[in-house]
Amino acid sequence: MTTIRPFTCEDLFKFNKVNLDPLTETYGLPFYMQYLAHWPEYFQIAESPSGEIMGYIMGKAEGSGELWHGHVTALTVAPEFRRIGLAAQLMNILEEISETKRCFFVDLFVRVSNKVAVDMYNKLGYTVYRRVIEYYSGEEDEDAFDMRKALSRDQDKKSMVPLPHPVRPDELE
Ligand SMILES: CC(C)(COP(=O)(O)OP(=O)(O)OC[C@H]1O[C@@H](n2cnc3c(N)ncnc32)[C@H](O)[C@@H]1OP(=O)(O)O)[C@@H](O)C(=O)NCCC(=O)NCCS
Repeated sequence: MTTIRPFTCEDLFKFNKVNLDPLTETYGLPFYMQYLAHWPEYFQIAESPSGEIMGYIMGKAEGSGELWHGHVTALTVAPEFRRIGLAAQLMNILEEISETKRCFFVDLFVRVSNKVAVDMYNKLGYTVYRRVIEYYSGEEDEDAFDMRKALSRDQDKKSMVPLPHPVRPDELE
C-alpha cells in the first residue's frame, strides 16, 4: 500500500533515484529547506511499503488579491511507479490544500516539450494560461507553458482566460 506523508529533511538524502529523471529539476538544499520551513503542508511524499520513495510534490501558496494561488514547484514519480495514479493523487492533495487556503487557482510551469506532463495536466483540468519564452535555461533554452486550474473561489474561471501573447520571464509577476 502507498503511504502519502509529509516530506522530511531526511528524505532529501534518499530522493536521488527519483530525481535522476532528466525532466525532474534538482535544486540546491537551501531551496528545499525553504519549502519545508514555509509550506510543509505542500511538500508531500508517496512511499512504498518497503520505504522506497515513489514520488513527491512540492509547492507553495503565493500572490495577493485575485492572484493568491497555489503553485506546483515540483512533481515527480519514479519510473517504476508511473501510471498508477500517483501524480494525480498528489496534485489532488495540493489542490485541496489550496482550496482550504482560499486560493483562486493553482498554477505550474512545464517544459513545452514535456508532452506526457502537459497532457496529464490537461486531463486534470489545467489549461495553458500563457507561454513563457526561454523560461528554462540550459544548453538549449526552452519555453514553458504556465498552466492554470481555477479553484472554487474563482467561480467565473477568470484566472484561466489565456493571455493572447507569450511573455518573457522578467514579465512574470
Ligand atoms: C508526469 C508524471 C509526474 C506523471 O506521473 P504518474 O504518476 O505516472 O501519472 P498518473 O498515473 O497520475 O497519470 C494521470 C494521467 O496522466 C496521463 N498520463 C500520465 N503518464 C502518461 C503517459 N506516460 N502517457 C500517456 N498519458 C499519461 C494519463 O491520462 C493518466 O491517467 P490514466 O492513467 O487514468 O490514463 C511522471 O511521468 C513523471 O514524474 N515525469 C517526469 C517528471 C515530470 O515531467 N514532472 C512534471 C514536470 S512539471
